[in-house]
Amino acid sequence: MAPADQDAVTRVLVNMGKSIAAFLRSLRVTESPLDAYASGQLDALTAQQKDGLLAFLTAGCAQCHYGPRLTDGSFHNLRFPTGRQDHTADPGRSDGIPFLLASEFRQTGKYSDAIPATPPPDPIVTPNLFGAFKTPDLRGVAFTLPFGHGGTYGGLTSVIEAHRTAGLPTGSTLTMGDAERFLVSFDPTLEPAIITFLDALRLDMVNPPP
Ligand code: HEC
Repeated sequence: MAPADQDAVTRVLVNMGKSIAAFLRSLRVTESPLDAYASGQLDALTAQQKDGLLAFLTAGCAQCHYGPRLTDGSFHNLRFPTGRQDHTADPGRSDGIPFLLASEFRQTGKYSDAIPATPPPDPIVTPNLFGAFKTPDLRGVAFTLPFGHGGTYGGLTSVIEAHRTAGLPTGSTLTMGDAERFLVSFDPTLEPAIITFLDALRLDMVNPPP
């Protein structure tokens, strides 16, 4: 295909992507019980859900799952299993960075509407990014199973237990790299309370979208 035609086709694709992004940005969710509690409505969480919030904090979850979306937006290796059909370990962010840098759809690329005056520095691959994945947000998490980047955990109990034991043991070929050092073990009796708390993180859409 001639370069000009190629560019025209790519622009169609880019414009479709931008339309979908604009629609997604218009979606709003209703206030969850945690939002209401955080804004001062102290009876918005039940006593059990408050116990769950305390267990969530005690188990160290908020080191990575915090803020309005309960994520730090950063990458960590939890040594969760691959979801690849050939069972090879997934390098995660360390493969993603070269892919991103080579992409013509970057914020600094010619198709962007938001080319920054001072572009952010390029991300670099550091050893802790081997096998690392982005911390998922936890709004509505109880309804989005299966869990983990490979979709290998069928419920909240198993994925929380995988956090407690820092994922798969050394020597497993289903994962790679070292577990994140901020991943602390915790008292397993906290798990039911943590699940009660996660169940309260509902994600109900405002309908119809404004
Ligand atoms: C060191 C940072 C860190 C800590 C601490 C942490 N998480 Fe995570 N969590 C992650 C990352 C990163 C993933 C995704 C890992 C992957 O898929 O390889 C994840 C995945 C999850 C998931 C699966 C969500 C999905 O959509 O697949 C749940 C649920 C979860 N965490 C809850 C918790 C709870 C509860 C705690 C406390 C016991 C906790 N996390 C502590 C970083 C962390």
